[in-house]
Amino acid sequence: MQIVAVLSLKGGVGKTTVALGLTSAALRRNIRTLVVDLDPQGNATATLDPAGAEYGLADVLATPRPPILGQAVSQSAWDEDIHVLAGNEDIESLNEQSPHASPLDNLARATSWFADPNNESRYDLIVLDCPPSLGRLTRSALLAATGALLVTEPTMYAVSGAQRAFQAIEHTREQQNPQLKALGVLVNKFRARSHEHHYRINELREGFGSLVMPVALPDRLAVQQAAGACTPIHEWATPGGREIALAFNLVLARILRSARRGRHHLEPPDPGLVEDESA
Ligand SMILES: Nc1ncnc2c1ncn2[C@@H]1O[C@H](COP(=O)(O)OP(=O)(O)O)[C@@H](O)[C@H]1O
Ligand SMILES: [Mg+2]
Repeated sequence: MQIVAVLSLKGGVGKTTVALGLTSAALRRNIRTLVVDLDPQGNATATLDPAGAEYGLADVLATPRPPILGQAVSQSAWDEDIHVLAGNEDIESLNEQSPHASPLDNLARATSWFADPNNESRYDLIVLDCPPSLGRLTRSALLAATGALLVTEPTMYAVSGAQRAFQAIEHTREQQNPQLKALGVLVNKFRARSHEHHYRINELREGFGSLVMPVALPDRLAVQQAAGACTPIHEWATPGGREIALAFNLVLARILRSARRGRHHLEPPDPGLVEDESA
């Protein structure tokens, strides 16, 4: 059982793409999965196209108790084993500190119920798609998660952004959630022909060593096409789609392995990144 928070400090780097790609890989492996959409923009919810539920994430964060929890998830149009706890703009205000804010660990209460082996509708994987900041919603995700996966583009600010995010992960692990592991840094929108991108990946490896995932996700049009068509990337049968799907299989396998090992970080990188090929 893994509860994976997918985070970054910036928007547009690919958190939702990674959350959806991991879900698509999980679907291929028949892993019953819940996606929690913590981003007020609701992009993951839009692509997963759920049937609609009585309650939403705002209700769950206010009252993380069974009658509400049971009626807050709904089935994704992708498959009967993929469920969504939908976010919408209602949760925007929950990202900021306020005297009326509900406890930060309410999400953790909810996810432990969803993951409880005694719960007959329990999930084997829970993916938390975070908003682009270290606000309350992302911090509540770090309290709930067993692992944190950091997404970055291979750009100039990648190293400093990753440093700040890892500090937040370490702080949460030391102070509040001892089960939280740093699963690694996943580089997205990689272009193998770009010297700049190779340079930035090397820089990340110098800073974070084996925490940088050995596979980088290439920049492929298929990602946008599949998301726009509300389709799992594993069903997008173009060369670019297959390449991305394969990369997500590797990332998911690594995440599940690290859960079994119960380690705080992963073994040294396998050689080579995904080869560049035109989408
Ligand atoms: N590997 C990729 N190749 C091509 N486009 C991508 C890739 N990853 C993300 N995108 C596109 O970039 C945009 C931002 O990605 P998204 O996953 O929504 O980022 P975030 O959730 O971090 O804001 C989306 O339009 C998405 O389709
Ligand atoms: Mg997003």
